[in-house]
Amino acid sequence: MTDVALPPSPAVDATAVRAVADGLSRPRKELPPRFFYDEHGSRLFEEITRLPEYYLTRTERTLLARWMPVWVAALKPRALIELGAGSAEKTRIVLDAISAAADSSVYVPVDVSAEFLDESAGRIGRDYPSIQVVPVVADFTDAFALPDGLPAPAMHAFLGSTIGNFAPDDAVALLRRVRERMSGGDRFLMGVDLRKDPAVIEAAYNDAAGVTAAFNRNMLRVVNAQAGADFDVDAWEHRASYNAVDHWIEMHLVALREQVVAVPGAGTFSFTAGETIRTEISAKHDRGSVDAMFAASGLRVDEWTTDDDALYALVLASPVG
Ligand code: TRP
Repeated sequence: MTDVALPPSPAVDATAVRAVADGLSRPRKELPPRFFYDEHGSRLFEEITRLPEYYLTRTERTLLARWMPVWVAALKPRALIELGAGSAEKTRIVLDAISAAADSSVYVPVDVSAEFLDESAGRIGRDYPSIQVVPVVADFTDAFALPDGLPAPAMHAFLGSTIGNFAPDDAVALLRRVRERMSGGDRFLMGVDLRKDPAVIEAAYNDAAGVTAAFNRNMLRVVNAQAGADFDVDAWEHRASYNAVDHWIEMHLVALREQVVAVPGAGTFSFTAGETIRTEISAKHDRGSVDAMFAASGLRVDEWTTDDDALYALVLASPVG
């Protein structure tokens, strides 16, 4: 036998192989966050949202419960377009307000996972008889078309501080696409995690129960399954640390020993002991950074509200220009 790379097995997906090879070929290795979310990863993430240290989800929920009735009563949206809807559980607070304010409306959840969408569309459709659910399977980081004939005005929602998972330029590109889909009377609703004592942020991504560590390391299992790689999951540990220059927390996987990982069809990748793979960033914002991102995207902040401890902000914006 020669050491020529074996062709990938049929279960392996060529796009996944390319994404893995591309990330691991960089001088500072990284893997794209999409590999977090297989079924187990999605379950671990749901668990993260309930951790005592992970203040983001519950703080956003409190803010939505406080402000949605007010903002929805003022706008009277007939359509809700949600980017990265996932299981849509967090959206119920918004849908409660919309269904109380309008006799009929349309909910357009946008997500890459058709499975997730079908499931949540079914549940939402049953629980909200006045809301028509029109799911769109799309990667919301790409341009995608909205269904024809949506009633106006629309609320475009991007919750969960997912904006933070994009590097600054990518965040602006994403917001510009949102802006392009908006008509004059539409509004953009966004939840965003705020800058604060780094110890509080680091605790949120290094929980005592180790769920975030399991979530991060699960990515290697997903990469093995989808790209046919042979990562030894036990040879990696989780690290999350706040980068105060870029104002983001970075999640890494740290190699516990020197090792070589094969990705069939794409070659081998060597790691020194202590070398890391970056798997995610979660940028933290303040009013100034949100104003700047929005100004660069053709949006203007109308409402800005935070919890009493200023951990998290809920923002409502209008299109300009
Ligand atoms: N957008 C959330 C955040 O940045 C969710 C998230 C993305 C997350 N990747 C994560 C949460 C990794 C915990 C760990 O916090």
